[in-house]
Parts: sequence; structure tokens; C-alpha cells
Amino acid sequence: MSFRRIEDAPSNKTALVRVDFNVPMADGKVSDDTRLRAALPTIKALTAKGCKVALLAHFDRPKGKRVPSMSLAPLAAPLSKLLEAPAAFAEDCVGPAAAAAIAALAPGGIVLLENTRFHDGEEKNDPALVAEMAKLGDFYVNDAFSAAHRAHASTEGLAHALPAYAGKAMEAELVALDAALGNPRRPVLGIVGGSKVSTKIDLLKNLVTKLDRLCIGGAMANTFLFAQGWDVGASYCEKDLADTAREIMKLAGKHKCELLLPIDTIVAEKLDARAPAFVRGLGDIDDDERILDAGPETIARLTKAMDESNTLIWNGPLGVFETPPFDHGTVAAARHAAARAKNGKLIAVAGGGDTVAALHHAGVADDMTFVSTAGGAFLEWMEGKPLPGVQALKR
Ligand code: 3PG
Repeated sequence: MSFRRIEDAPSNKTALVRVDFNVPMADGKVSDDTRLRAALPTIKALTAKGCKVALLAHFDRPKGKRVPSMSLAPLAAPLSKLLEAPAAFAEDCVGPAAAAAIAALAPGGIVLLENTRFHDGEEKNDPALVAEMAKLGDFYVNDAFSAAHRAHASTEGLAHALPAYAGKAMEAELVALDAALGNPRRPVLGIVGGSKVSTKIDLLKNLVTKLDRLCIGGAMANTFLFAQGWDVGASYCEKDLADTAREIMKLAGKHKCELLLPIDTIVAEKLDARAPAFVRGLGDIDDDERILDAGPETIARLTKAMDESNTLIWNGPLGVFETPPFDHGTVAAARHAAARAKNGKLIAVAGGGDTVAALHHAGVADDMTFVSTAGGAFLEWMEGKPLPGVQALKR
């Protein structure tokens, strides 16, 4: 896909930069500043060109109303600290308050504009709001891949109203995702885990048409085992989705995607770190036992599959990693993938909230080739759906 990059943007102009500052907050303070950090390279590249930078962002879901607890104001100070330069704040993202704040900036100055979702027109992608925003700047930069699945005024509409560029974080996402699924070095292995098949049906159906192998783990694998006729005891299992699981298995066969389902499991009667846990083969699971992690043979086969692959795309943990010892499978697989990625032997791309948390838990998030900070957008991209915010940057 071809898009304009920051390097192509003009100097000494006003840039309207869409960022994703939908950050976790605790007690009115930013509790994880990953998304603020992600925006720094783009902001710095633009200010270095003498551009004024006006940041557009949403926070939470105020549904077109001014909700004080959803103001972006508390983010200006932590952002200034990370930038080592002052970021001003404007009480509105359009109109006189925004225009005055931008006019007051010196060249290379930065202002964070108030929550775009305080305006009803934002989520409706209202042309009137788009026009109000467009008046404020000379060009538009979208650096918010994680909001690109939304066709909103500041994520999609504005890209048609002004010359549009992909920011550096957006560019890094697009390059990494293309290397993982668009145009990958084969063989490509996928790992999809997590608890529910129901939330990942489209994703699984798309992946089996694209990958050489797909490992299904986490509680969603129980549904597949059940669909194959195995007894999964007291495990979480979406029995009503057995037909869907069979359909996905058939589709995988048709597209010559080898499915790697669990061949052994770790079970316990309770999800409790102190509960006695056992390795169980398929067919050996008692009625009151729950599958809580992948077994050692399953992990050995998965790491061997990684050794035989050039590319890995990963979404979702293989077990209940939040409750050790049921983190063993996920941690072992993550460490193996990261070690191969670090040695340049595997292009390993991962994304989705739980996956990122699991990689941090395993201590290897920095060793993967690329870890996406996006949640919903990453999933929709894995489903093969065009992301409106990305499509609008195409030229
Ligand atoms: C996210 O946090 O995933 C993005 O900022 C999108 O937020 P939304 O789901 O409220 O649109």
C-alpha cells in the first residue's frame, strides 16, 4: 500500500495530528503511557520541521457530550514531560478556543486539543465537523492505527479534507502487519488463543485462508476439541459453536492450512494457583477437571513449528497466564518466539491487549519483531477487513 510519509510533509506549517491517547487512567493519572510514547517520534519529526502540531484525540466514549471526567486535560502534563517540551491544552478541538491556542503557538509548538468525541459529529463523521477541524491546519497526519477501524471525523473524514500523511507509528504498524500477513516470508505460522471462539470467528476464517499453519490455543481450543468428539470435562467450552469449529476446520483443509490443536493439556479442578494441577492427554480428562493451560507436548510441537517457520503472527494467550502456574505454556512459547526473533530467524508480530500483557509477563515484549498497541483495530485487520483510517491514507 502506498501512502505519504512524514518525510514528505511540508515544513513551517500547521499539522493536525490524530493520535490515540485513549490511555488507561487510575486516580486521574495515566497508568500506562505506552500510547503517549508511541506518538513522540511523529510529534518530534514535525516540530523539527518548524511545524506547529495540534493533536486530535479521543478519550473513552462520551457519546457527543462534554463529560468532564473524560477530558484530555490531565494528559498535557505527562505528555510535556515525555516530550521535554511544553504541550499546551485547548478546551475544544474546533472553534475559537482551538484556533486561538494554535495561533498562540510559536513555530515548533505543540497543543493538545480537547476530546474529539465531545462533539456529536465525531463518531458520525459529520462533514460539518470535518470542515471545522480542517480550518485549523494545513495538513493532516494520522498516527493512530489503534483507532483506524473507526470511520470518524478525525480518523477518516479529515484525511479527505486536507493533504494526508501516515505518522511514524502508523507507518511502523503498516509495515509490520504487511510483513506478517500481507506479504509474508513463508512458511507463516499463526497462534490464536484466548477464551472465546465467538469473538474470533471472522479472524479464524480469514487466517486459515492465508497461513501455512495455525495453532489454536487457550479455552477456545476446547470448543475445537469438543467438536472433534473429545470430552473436555468441566472446561470452559462454547458447545453451541461446535458446528462453526467444524466449518473452520474444513475451511483450513480446503486452503491447506495445517491446524495445530492441543495434543495434551494442564488441568485443575479450580482456577487457583494452589490447586493441584496435572498433565492430561486428550481422552483422560475427568468430569470435574478444567483445562487451564497447554500441555508440554503441545508446546514442544508449537516451538518446533516456530523453528520451521519464517514468520509468526500471534494473538491471544495459550492458557490462563494471569494465574501461574497456568502461564507456563504461554511463557514458554513467547520466550521461544522472542529468542528466534532476536536472532533474526523469525519475523514475530503480536498484538491485542491480552497478548501484549502476556508478552510483558514473559519479559520478552521488547524482543519480538513488532508488538502492536492496537486492540480492536488489530483484530479487524487480522479479520481481513479494510480499516477506514488506513484506507483514507491511500494514494
Ligand atoms: C482503543 O482503545 O482500542 C481505541 O482507542 C479505540 O477506542 P474505541 O473502541 O472507544 O473506539
